Amino acid sequence: MNRSVAVANGKGGVGKTSTACNLAGLTAASGARVLVIDSDPQGHVALNFGYDIERQTDQGASMLKAVLTGGLPDVTKDVRPNLDVIWGGEQLEELAIHLNVRRMSGRGGAGAYSETIKAIAAQYDFVFVDCPPGGHILQEGVFGAARWVLVPAKTDKGSLAGLRDIARRFDVAHEINPDLELLGVFLFGTQSSARRVIREARADILKELEGLDDSIVLTSFIRQVEAAARDEREMGLLAHELEAAAEEAEPWYVQRQNGKSDALVVARSSSSLAGDYSELAREVHDRIAKAEALLAGTSA
Ligand SMILES: Nc1ncnc2c1ncn2[C@@H]1O[C@H](COP(=O)(O)OP(=O)(O)O)[C@@H](O)[C@H]1O
Ligand SMILES: [Mg+2]
Repeated sequence: MNRSVAVANGKGGVGKTSTACNLAGLTAASGARVLVIDSDPQGHVALNFGYDIERQTDQGASMLKAVLTGGLPDVTKDVRPNLDVIWGGEQLEELAIHLNVRRMSGRGGAGAYSETIKAIAAQYDFVFVDCPPGGHILQEGVFGAARWVLVPAKTDKGSLAGLRDIARRFDVAHEINPDLELLGVFLFGTQSSARRVIREARADILKELEGLDDSIVLTSFIRQVEAAARDEREMGLLAHELEAAAEEAEPWYVQRQNGKSDALVVARSSSSLAGDYSELAREVHDRIAKAEALLAGTSA
């Protein structure tokens, strides 16, 4: 059963990496065996898990080698309980060049990357792939291997263009990989959770995705919470881990009374961010389970 979810959008800065990491973390915490593949030469998955890109990751070297030699990439085990990671980073630029050269010389293209992803993905219950922005050949490779595409979307003008881009690329990829389905689009970084604002934002998204049923926009969304988002990357903790840390920490005045100067101060907004991701994870897993049940019903 292919349960690979590509988190993608044509634009950068719309929440792809944060979404991939948080959904993966929650899925692993629920007991499933999870793999995260960072497919972005920026390698920012490391930041969300609290790893130093240069000192603690291979920056994509093992993925590059695996695609070149046809073997399996090395994974970093137990980055969290039940959760392994294949890092991204600058070595993936090499991989992209290599795939482009293959394409230009008529020896395939992104397909070799798709095959490597499929081979390693088969060892896990769920795989979340963080995609690079833009018309990257690596994203094409991910779409050739994935079952689902999940799209975080912001609704400013520039970000809406990224949505159009991904919809087009999805259509092309679907021709090559008929298993690929759009799991949904959801609002990322909304400044207000007021019903009217959310309704208008969803309408803006649907306008970009003309022809698609309005059920394509998920009901869950991720609020904009600057402080909690900054804590995520500064502390290298996922939203639900931050929430737990905030609950455990003594209030700052107690810490101060006890003479602790380097008090752990976690933004109070961490609990609303964790709640948003928890809702999103629930909806994503519901959709996958429903689709699988439907498939089992039709093939039975
Ligand atoms: N809920 C949030 N509210 C505000 N900013 C956020 C939130 N989540 C993440 N961010 C910040 O937004 C920026 C883009 O997020 P990221 O997940 O890296 O997007 P992408 O992978 O699409 O480039 C990062 O600086 C991140 O820290
Ligand atoms: Mg990213």
